[in-house]
Amino acid sequence: MATERTFSILKPDATARNLTGAVNAVIEEAGLRIVAQRRIRMSDAQAKKFYEVHAERPFYGELVEFMTSGPVVVQVLEGENAVAKYREVMGATNPAQAAEGTIRQKFAKSVGENTVHGSDSLENAGIEIKQFFDDKDIVG
Ligand code: CMP
Repeated sequence: MATERTFSILKPDATARNLTGAVNAVIEEAGLRIVAQRRIRMSDAQAKKFYEVHAERPFYGELVEFMTSGPVVVQVLEGENAVAKYREVMGATNPAQAAEGTIRQKFAKSVGENTVHGSDSLENAGIEIKQFFDDKDIVG
């Protein structure tokens, strides 16, 4: 196994409910290290670009609207097998199907307001991290 970095977003439903610390506790307890973190307000252009792979999906407009509706916390997580590990820690996209103890099982409200985003592959992690962080801002 290799040390990897993955990209994470704590979504507006998390910041609205003051859950940054609670979600970070689950991340850290799972052995992932938060090596960069910033609270931002995502612009419409940033959200559209970030989710452009979903542009043809019926929920795209709703997704962009939600992600720009309040502050988000963007993060870089580091650890052994970090990409797959974080997906396991987040749980299924739909919180109704998320396993016990996962972030989405504990905190998510719906498939849209599902508290966190995590990269789905190492390649996408690299692309997503570059959209929000400079190398110098990541301290491993
Ligand atoms: P995320 O990992 O951020 O990547 C794409 C997002 O689209 C996903 O999490 C969900 O929050 C969102 N999504 C997926 N399916 C739906 C849906 N049916 N309605 C609204 N949002 C959705």
